[in-house]
Amino acid sequence: MFEKIRGLIFKLDPETAHNLAIKTLKFNFIPNKKVQQNNLLETKIFGKKIPNPIGIAAGFDKDAEVYNSLFKLGFGYVEVGTITPLKQYGNPKPRVFRLEEDEALINRLGFNNSGSDKVRSRILSSPPTGLLGINIGPNKDTKDRVKDFLVGLRKFHDIGDYLTINISSPNTENLRNFHNDEEMGELLEEIQTEKDKLKTNIPIAIKISPDLEFKSIDKICEILIKNKISTVIISNSTDRTRENLKNINKLEKGGLSGKPLENKSNFLINEFYKSFKSDITIIGVGGIDSGRSVYEKIINGAKLVQLYTGMVFKGPNIVFKINNELIEIIKKTGVNNISELRGSKK
Ligand SMILES: Cc1cc2nc3c(=O)[nH]c(=O)nc-3n(C[C@H](O)[C@H](O)[C@H](O)COP(=O)(O)O)c2cc1C
Repeated sequence: MFEKIRGLIFKLDPETAHNLAIKTLKFNFIPNKKVQQNNLLETKIFGKKIPNPIGIAAGFDKDAEVYNSLFKLGFGYVEVGTITPLKQYGNPKPRVFRLEEDEALINRLGFNNSGSDKVRSRILSSPPTGLLGINIGPNKDTKDRVKDFLVGLRKFHDIGDYLTINISSPNTENLRNFHNDEEMGELLEEIQTEKDKLKTNIPIAIKISPDLEFKSIDKICEILIKNKISTVIISNSTDRTRENLKNINKLEKGGLSGKPLENKSNFLINEFYKSFKSDITIIGVGGIDSGRSVYEKIINGAKLVQLYTGMVFKGPNIVFKINNELIEIIKKTGVNNISELRGSKK
């Protein structure tokens, strides 16, 4: 079905097409295809079992409107957001560009969302039917970004399965400064102190940029372990890697996602995997659109994966297709569960 109407959808401006997808998913009229249950894919995370390790990445369901429909599409878990304390419009339109020949998107949305109060009440009124991550960030005009992260923690610690600290959007000026040792250390210490005050044990993930300096990886790992961060998401979109793209929009300002990000993300996953001396969970993101691309991230060291751009190009059935492809790949390796393949790249 998607293949037949893809041409029509691609005639629409990408943000309009996205809003239409959200409206359609809101009806929750997804045919009740049986969710694939297969021991090869079942994964344990944050003390819960999920049917497969494939999640929808932050940015698709920014406002937490359709997560239960996304579970029905087969996603093993869903990450909503990025949500800021106060509602914000984001950057002027147009702000999303489709690079069809490159199987990529460039976006400079700038954290458009309804704000944390609205999103909190929305989640409370529609209990998630699967594992839900909530991605938080600061408002553009805030005077204190650390405080904004703490607001997010207070608002969502009791209703999510994990929280993601997003320090890696290329579309909020200087947000990526939190990759510097000192700023990262301070932020994560404040988060830990606030968690202690709230007496919450919610797992914290940190989402990092693919454009960080490779030489800082060991230091970042040290800071994450010291501050009890359980999970690192690798990676957000890149503001580099434009040289080899074909589409006319290739130099639009913003974050590039999809196929051109894949190798960079896989490389970083492997570097972090090798650098961690303790068991931090890696969620691999960037360019996933097939069973093979998930397999690559897992053997490089990811425990879970997420995708966004792949669904724009391959349609809403993508998780079912990926799961079937993955099952075939895993069977050939002879292992009993996908988790046994983690970090097995020679
Ligand atoms: C249109 C769009 C909006 C996004 N918004 C967010 C966001 O709000 N927060 C975030 O952490 N990542 C956001 N991302 C980044 C994705 O979560 C993901 O890290 C990145 O797109 C790489 O994965 P992909 O190649 O599968 O798309 C966005 C990506 C796209 C394409």
